[in-house]
Amino acid sequence: MKTLSEVNMCGIVGIISKEPQELVPNIITALNNLEYRGYDSAGLSFLDTSTVKTFKCLGAPSDNLEKGEIYAKTAITNKKITTAIGHTRWATHGKPSIKNAHPHLDCTGRIAIVHNGTILNFEELKSSLQKIGHTFKSDTDSEVIAHSIEEALKHEKKFEDAFLHAIKMLEGSFGIVAIDKKNPGTLYVAKNGSPINIGITDTMFIVASSVNVLLHYTKHYIPLSDKECAILSTNKGILHQEILQFKDKIQPTSKQPKLIKGASVEDMSKEGFESFMLKEIYEQPKTVQATLLGRYNKKTGNAVLGGLTDHEKCLKQLINIITISCGTANNAGKAGKGIIENLTDINVRNEIASEFRYQKHNFKQHNSLIVVISQSGETADTIGALKVAQKERYKTFGIVNVVGSAVSTETDTGEFTRAGTEIGVASTKAFVAQLTVLYLFALKLARMRDMEKDEGKHLISTLENIPKHMQKVLILDKEIKKIAHKFKNIKNISFLGRGIHVPIADEAALKFKELTYIECGSYPLGELKHGPIAIVDKDHLSVIIMPKDDQFALSKNSIEQIRSKGGKVLIITDKSAEKDPVIQKADATIIIPTIKQNICYPLLEIIPLQLFAYHFAQQLGMNVDKPRNLAKSVTVE
Ligand code: F6R
Repeated sequence: MKTLSEVNMCGIVGIISKEPQELVPNIITALNNLEYRGYDSAGLSFLDTSTVKTFKCLGAPSDNLEKGEIYAKTAITNKKITTAIGHTRWATHGKPSIKNAHPHLDCTGRIAIVHNGTILNFEELKSSLQKIGHTFKSDTDSEVIAHSIEEALKHEKKFEDAFLHAIKMLEGSFGIVAIDKKNPGTLYVAKNGSPINIGITDTMFIVASSVNVLLHYTKHYIPLSDKECAILSTNKGILHQEILQFKDKIQPTSKQPKLIKGASVEDMSKEGFESFMLKEIYEQPKTVQATLLGRYNKKTGNAVLGGLTDHEKCLKQLINIITISCGTANNAGKAGKGIIENLTDINVRNEIASEFRYQKHNFKQHNSLIVVISQSGETADTIGALKVAQKERYKTFGIVNVVGSAVSTETDTGEFTRAGTEIGVASTKAFVAQLTVLYLFALKLARMRDMEKDEGKHLISTLENIPKHMQKVLILDKEIKKIAHKFKNIKNISFLGRGIHVPIADEAALKFKELTYIECGSYPLGELKHGPIAIVDKDHLSVIIMPKDDQFALSKNSIEQIRSKGGKVLIITDKSAEKDPVIQKADATIIIPTIKQNICYPLLEIIPLQLFAYHFAQQLGMNVDKPRNLAKSVTVE
C-alpha cells in the first residue's frame, strides 16, 4: 500500500449470501465487533423483495441496535435475505443523530450506501446535485455518494458503471459498500484510504473495515488496495467476484486471497470478564510472552529482531532516534527514550506525530532513524508524520500491532507487537507490547555498542520473568479496587515519578482521564515543587511511582514535601521498599514484586495504575470500554 491518506473512523460491513438466510443478526454482530471504531450511532439496510429496508439507532450498536426495536421485530431478524449492509459511526460531518446515521439513501430509495472516510469535495458535489433537484436528508459528507450514483444512473445503464462513475468523482478517503434494489445479490464496494477487506466463504462474501469481523466466518480474505473496487455477486447459487482498478482508467485486476494473521476470535469475546478492558489488562502477561517469543538468544545475550537483520550497518552508525506517535504510543516512545538512552549512547527524541508533521527538522538523515509507534497503524497523524519523514528521506522503523496496517506496510522495516486485537478503547496490552519491543530494540542497539554479553543475558532473564511477576501484580486487583474506593471523594490527582517512571506517570494520567473524565496531571516528581505543588491540599491525591532504584531517596524527600502540605499519597513501590518508614506513612501503598533490573519496572508498575483508573471509573459508573468522545483508531486529523 503506497497511497496513504487520512481516513476516518467508523465501521462498515456488507454481506451477500448464496442462499437467503437470517442476515440481520449477522450484520448486528459484525457491528458490535466494529463498534470500537465508533459508537455514536449505527444502522443497517437490507434488500427485501426488491425494497430497501433501513433501521438506525443512536448510540452503540450493542446497546441500541441489538436491544432496540429491530430485535423486537422477529419479522426482521428472522427474515431470510441475501443482501445487507451496516455501519457504526464516529461523527465528523454532522452531529450524532438518526438522520446522520448511515446507511444513506438516494432520493428514490433505490440505493443505500455505508461509508467510512471523508469526502473532501462533498460541498461542491452536494450543491451541484441540489441544483439539479436532489434532496438531502442529512448533514453528512457521505450522503453525496448515494445521490451521485443516482445521478449517474441517468446516463449509465448498468448500476456498476454508475457506481464507478460516481466513485471517480470523489476526492478524499473512502471505504464504501452500496446496494441497489434492482440488483439484489450484489454488493458494490470501493476503497481509497479507508480499509476494506473481503472475506470469502463457500456460502457468502462478507466485507468489513476490519478483519476481526471476518474471523467469525473465515480466515481467507482479500484486502482491497487504494483505488480498487469490487463487484461481489451471487447468481444461481454461484458467488462471483470482479475486482477493478479505477486509477486513470478502469481496468480489471486479479488478487489472490490471503490468510488473516495476528488476530483471533477469542480477541473478540470478553471470555467471562466484565469488560474488554479488564480482560486486556489481565492478558498482559500473555502479551509480553508472545511479544518476546523467539526474539532473543539467551546464549549470546542478544535480541533477535528479524526486521533489523538487513540494517546492521545503519544501526551501528546511529546517533539519533526520533520516535513519532500519539497518545499511549507516545508514552511508550517516552519510556523507550529512557531505556535506549540508558543502555546506549544514542540520543532519542520523542515527537508527537501531530506536531512532527508540521515542524522543521534539523536532524541529519544519514545517522538518524525514525521509529513510528502505533497500535492500529492507522492513526492519521502518525501516518501524516511518517509521510513527512519519508519525504525528508529518513529511514523508518515501525512498532505496530495491526498486521497489514498502513504503518506496517509503509515503514522501511519494523517489528509487530503481537498484542492481538485490542478492543477496549483505552489502550493497555498494546502499550506493554510496545514497551517489550522497545526493550528488545534497545538490547540489540546496546549489544552493537558496548553492552557486555552477560549484561545482555541479565536483561533477557529479567524480561523473561516479567510475565510471572505481572501475574503477581494482577492478584492485587481487589486491593486496588478498595484503594480506588478509599479515594473516591478526592478532588484532583497528580501522577508522579522520576526518570524511567515519568512516562508511566504520563500513561497513568492518560488512562485516568480517558476513563473517569476527571482532569489530572502528570509530572516528574522533582518538578512538583516548581509549581504543581500549589494544588496540593487535603483533597489532592499524589500517586507516586517509586520502586527502590537510585532515585528512591530523592523521591522520599518529595513525599515529605507533599505530606507537609496536607496532601494524600498513594505509593507504588516494590517489595524491597515495603518496610521503609516513609512508605509506611503513605495513605495507601501498592507493592509490586522486586525485579533484578530496575530498568524493567515500567512493565510492572503500569498494571496497578491501569487497574486504579479502571476501578475509579467503574465506581463512577463510566463506560470503561467505550469512553465518551473517543474511538479506537483516530484516523482523522
Ligand atoms: C489511549 C489511546 C490513544 C492511542 C493513540 C494512538 O488509551 O489508545 O491515545 O494510543 O490514539 O493510537 P495508535 O497507537 O493506534 O496509533
